[in-house]
Amino acid sequence: MPAKIKVAILISGLGSNMEALIKDLKNQNHLGEATIVVSDNPDALGLMKAEQLKIPAFSFATNSKTLDKSIFENNLLQLLISNNIQVVCLAGFMKILSSKFIKDFPGEILNIHPSILPSIKGLNTHERAIRRNLHVHGATVHKVTEKLDSGFILGQTTISIHKNDTPHSLSKRLKPKENQLYVDTLRQFLSGNSKVIQKLELDS
Ligand code: GRF
Repeated sequence: MPAKIKVAILISGLGSNMEALIKDLKNQNHLGEATIVVSDNPDALGLMKAEQLKIPAFSFATNSKTLDKSIFENNLLQLLISNNIQVVCLAGFMKILSSKFIKDFPGEILNIHPSILPSIKGLNTHERAIRRNLHVHGATVHKVTEKLDSGFILGQTTISIHKNDTPHSLSKRLKPKENQLYVDTLRQFLSGNSKVIQKLELDS
């Protein structure tokens, strides 16, 4: 059997996408293995979940100062390299990685973003989708490049926006779909299949 591809998952919060990825990566037929979880937030709930799932979890506290960010990124890079990480999955990781980090990391970096990119980049996507009176919302898994939320799109999923939806209700309905999208897209990405995954069915 070929060696498994070493995957690191970066989180800042709840970690539902992380949990879904780890559970799937534990399957024998998966080409990857969840090697480490890293958080920039020592209080992230996902860190506890990672430990329960028996994946080594690390946290490096940071604040928004540039100097601190570069120390964080240096520590992160060393940790990834010393664990031979080939693929990094950002899963609710709230820090924007610098161009230097993206250039220096020798593997691939993927992210999940809660909108149908290239529409609605950045933060508060659920609120902005409602404010724009959109009928369709969703999530995207994409490669991470130096330009925020702009890398090659690997997979997308959609939901309908209902009349009385709030950012909270949208997020709640989208999360399970995001989780499944990330799982399916990572599998396809590791297999080398470049077809974009499109789960474009809408609920009524
Ligand atoms: C998800 O909505 C993801 O799309 C966004 O941050 C959220 C993380 O959720 N990038 P979780 O921590 O994986 O539950």
